[in-house]
Amino acid sequence: MRDQMSIRRILSLTIAVLLLAAASAAAQREGRRDRNEWQQPERVVKELHLKPGDVVADVGCGRGYFLFPFAEAVGDEGKVLGVDIDQRALDAAGKRAEEQGVKNIELVHSEPTDTKLKPGSVDVAFICMVLHHVPKEQQQPLLQSVARALKPGGYLYVIDVKEGVETPFRWHGEQLPREELIEKATAAGLALDADFYCLQYQYFVRFAAPEAKP
Ligand SMILES: C[S@@+](CC[C@H](N)C(=O)[O-])C[C@H]1O[C@@H](n2cnc3c(N)ncnc32)[C@H](O)[C@@H]1O
Repeated sequence: MRDQMSIRRILSLTIAVLLLAAASAAAQREGRRDRNEWQQPERVVKELHLKPGDVVADVGCGRGYFLFPFAEAVGDEGKVLGVDIDQRALDAAGKRAEEQGVKNIELVHSEPTDTKLKPGSVDVAFICMVLHHVPKEQQQPLLQSVARALKPGGYLYVIDVKEGVETPFRWHGEQLPREELIEKATAAGLALDADFYCLQYQYFVRFAAPEAKP
């Protein structure tokens, strides 16, 4: 009798664990689908006008949400540098690249104010949903490090949370208003070049590095 009760208890526990795991997997899938809806990755990548052969740096790439569409856009002759201070996020991105056989992604373990990118080596830099995590006093040095890595005339694109909007996603940190970003990027030697209005909850701006002196 006691044996039967234990078996029943184990069975109910197993079923509960399986149901929880299924619910969590469904929630994760839902979250990703939701992000695609508000993040519009295809639209964002299109605005970057990447060409085969370009070198793109995704600074604060995390687990690689944008790395893979970038890798496709720049092709085998191009290179995507996935830069992050979090080695675990880089490991997850690297594992995914290996599983998918993507060969043109290189991962760079950076420091908070040093991207570790070679000066003048990058055509396009991209920073999405990162700067509100970066302490205020580190933002300009980080932007300076990105500016140094750009080739003359190269572009930096930044996406971050708009002020005063309620977002359907959770985010942590301290908001970096667009105007404050522009001040910091300008002080880092970049010039505001374009605004894109396709995203509902985030600003999306482009800065240009100075052209080479003749
Ligand atoms: C919210 S995630 C965004 C990831 C990715 N850009 C995306 O849009 O999915 C923020 C990432 O920024 C990274 N990060 C925070 N501060 C950083 C810094 N100073 N330099 C580089 N990466 C940083 C974090 O480790 C994290 O992976």
